[in-house]
Amino acid sequence: MSSSVATLDKIVALCKRRGFVYPSAEIYSGLNGVYDFGPLGTVLKNTIKRLWLAQMTSFAQEVLLLDGAILGASEVWKASGHVENFSDPMVDCLVCKKRYRADDVDLEKNCPHCGNKQWTDVRQFQLMFQTSLGALADSTNIAYLRPETAQSIFVNFKNVMSTNRVKIPFGIAQIGKAFRNEITPKQFLFRMREFEQMEMEFFCKGQDADSFFDLWCQRRLAFFHDLGLKQDRVRLRPHAADELAHYSKACNDVEYEFPFGWKELEGIANRADFDLTQHSKFSGKDLAVFDEETKTSYMPHVVESSVGVERLFLTLLFDAYDEEAVDGEVRTVLRFHPKVAPYAAAVMPLSNKLHDQAHALFVNLKKAGFSVQYDDSGSIGKRYRRQDEIGTPVCFTFDFDSLEDNKVTARNRDTMQQERVAIDQLEHYVRDMMTKACFL
Ligand code: GAP
Repeated sequence: MSSSVATLDKIVALCKRRGFVYPSAEIYSGLNGVYDFGPLGTVLKNTIKRLWLAQMTSFAQEVLLLDGAILGASEVWKASGHVENFSDPMVDCLVCKKRYRADDVDLEKNCPHCGNKQWTDVRQFQLMFQTSLGALADSTNIAYLRPETAQSIFVNFKNVMSTNRVKIPFGIAQIGKAFRNEITPKQFLFRMREFEQMEMEFFCKGQDADSFFDLWCQRRLAFFHDLGLKQDRVRLRPHAADELAHYSKACNDVEYEFPFGWKELEGIANRADFDLTQHSKFSGKDLAVFDEETKTSYMPHVVESSVGVERLFLTLLFDAYDEEAVDGEVRTVLRFHPKVAPYAAAVMPLSNKLHDQAHALFVNLKKAGFSVQYDDSGSIGKRYRRQDEIGTPVCFTFDFDSLEDNKVTARNRDTMQQERVAIDQLEHYVRDMMTKACFL
């Protein structure tokens, strides 16, 4: 069945019910555009980050890691163009005072909230969160919460190069928090005010930038394929010239078809030498590189890959969500690829009398490095449904026959079929399942 049965409401409810995502500070009515991640959500986020890092650092050329500060000096954001350009057009309804991004409403029409047609002028709204360092709040100590992680990479480019003996071409990858004071956070994790980015900046010679840009586009598409995303829901869309950000020469969005339309999942950009040139100019430090072959200096060009952890999280949930009728009831199942599922397996005793043996199996699988859940509450049918809903690919049930034949029942999440598997083969069974390209 197609995952088009997924709606935003169903995803939000499942995330809450099963401990993936909670509204932040919910007991105080929440904070708009800010979320906390529960136990399963934290595991899923960590998996996303681990798989992303694995792809980055397995590239044939060197890709080094960085963990930059969240607070950014105002000079950095002036040089990057964010102080001047990082804003969205905003408009308010004069009657009900509701605020909109001007490109989200038709100003020729009435306010979607109260039905009146009295708008303020459109003004630009700065999306960076501004703060001040220390006790004095004046213009000399303004700092910003970074709206993207990329700038820490650019300002550390020379540090990384000179302290790690790397040569162009090479990349610097970083995962970290970013903050944007979005006018209208929406669609749950799609547009948040606090989120995490996974960004990689690849430094190369200008004449090589186009080919590295193409290469990274292909690699990133392969990454999403590898996570198990449905291929007909992922596409690469080149930006038209008038859509390009102030820094980029070319940009391809990796888009996903959400129930609310095709939307950007990741941006891949050829930023040319914009960033290093700007930071050289504003800091007075020469960030050019000396070419031993030609004995000349040049400013490296940059190819960027940038994706939000939570946006990918949401995409994986939409892609995996499915419902089907089983015995007159709706079965909800997250058909995650096994390497993405928060738990690789669940272990269950058929009866409480078998707790010790089943629990020993659970501990062994954990010791082998797998993320596993022990589940002994409720009927076995209910336990299977619960595991289906959080996407656990296989449940191992220890029953009374297990005492005799040293086998357990392995129940497949997607087919619901069952087979007997020898207990001494369980590790192999789980490992094999996780490395298969396709589960079914
Ligand atoms: N350094 C380039 C950059 O930041 P961007 O297109 O503004 O480019 C990159 O952001 C990615 O970060 C997006 O494709 C999206 O995955 C994620 N992202 C951006 N704003 C977001 C928000 N408000 N909430 C969640 N994710 C966001």
